[in-house]
Amino acid sequence: MKIQTIKEADLSNKKVLLRADLNVPTKDGKVTDTTRIEAVKPTVDFLLKNNAQVIICSHFGRPKGEKKDELSLKHILPTIEEILEYEVQFIDDCIDIEVPDAPISLLENTRFHKEEKENDADFAQKLASHADIFVMDAFGAAHRAHASTEGVTNHLPSYAGLLLESEINSMAPLLDSKQIEKPLTLIIGGAKIDTKIGILNNFLDKADNIIIGGALANTFLLAQGHDVGKSLVEEDQVETAQEILMKASETGCTILLPKDVIVADEISKEATAIDIPIEDVELDMMILDIGKNTMESYVELIQNSKTIVMNGPLGLYEFPQFEAGTYVILEALAASNSTTIVGGGDSVDALNKFNIPHKKFTHISTGGGAMIEFLEGKQLPAIAPLIKS
Ligand code: 3PG
Repeated sequence: MKIQTIKEADLSNKKVLLRADLNVPTKDGKVTDTTRIEAVKPTVDFLLKNNAQVIICSHFGRPKGEKKDELSLKHILPTIEEILEYEVQFIDDCIDIEVPDAPISLLENTRFHKEEKENDADFAQKLASHADIFVMDAFGAAHRAHASTEGVTNHLPSYAGLLLESEINSMAPLLDSKQIEKPLTLIIGGAKIDTKIGILNNFLDKADNIIIGGALANTFLLAQGHDVGKSLVEEDQVETAQEILMKASETGCTILLPKDVIVADEISKEATAIDIPIEDVELDMMILDIGKNTMESYVELIQNSKTIVMNGPLGLYEFPQFEAGTYVILEALAASNSTTIVGGGDSVDALNKFNIPHKKFTHISTGGGAMIEFLEGKQLPAIAPLIKS
């Protein structure tokens, strides 16, 4: 996939509308994970170095088309300025405004207008009117056909930023069996099958192994006939899980599910956790992490893989008794010399919680849903207009 990037654009003295994904997690008004802000800095620096004026726009949360003070981007402005190492002019709306003649401005949350998600043509035109060029760098929002991600490309010459380019360059080879360094192990965690079914199906004929973890694994264990006690399961997806298991046996892809698990009868910091074989799960028990033997076998598999892709945690890593599975697997990836790609909000949150440096991985994706849809092999609506014909 070849896309037009800012390296090919004439940026000098141009006003650039830069779509970033500043939808960062916050707690008590403070940014708890700065990965997405750090990830857009190289593009901002490149634009400034090439004498462009940068006008940043982004969504933040899901305000449903209304102005909600708690979802104003002004709250994260100090963090943005600290990371970009620049003063940033904040503008309290994204359309019908005058953009000051400053090196960097930040427009207010685009989703304060319902027209953003509707991909309204007039709204997109108004956003585009601030600039001469559009730069798309919000990989995390590239699966959304919104006015600020896709609509604006109908009104301005459009290019990918350096982050979007690196996301595509790191992950596109995974879609082409000939380019994958084998063995390939895919690790998929999380809770819901319907958000992961596309990626599972797409990798059944590409991956040598698929490790299924998190609550997702419970549904597969149920599909194999195991008693999962009171664990979180999607009963209506058992048939889907059976179909995936069947297809995997046809394509020769090994699906790995935990052989021993950490169970507790409540989810709390005080809960007593025990490690038992999957066959012993019953009654009020809830499966909340993978067990020690399973961890060891997964680590060995990772050590023998040439490409490892992970999206989603393996257990309820937010609680100390249920964090070991996710921790041990992420550490194994960090120690590996193979190609390692990790993405999804929870996986990145877990990396930060365990203080595992991002630079120990080949690529950390800033996309959650976008990473999943990209790896499903879908053409993402905000990338499509940037593809060279
Ligand atoms: C994300 O956090 O995954 C992206 O910013 C997209 O957000 P959305 O799911 O609200 O569109």
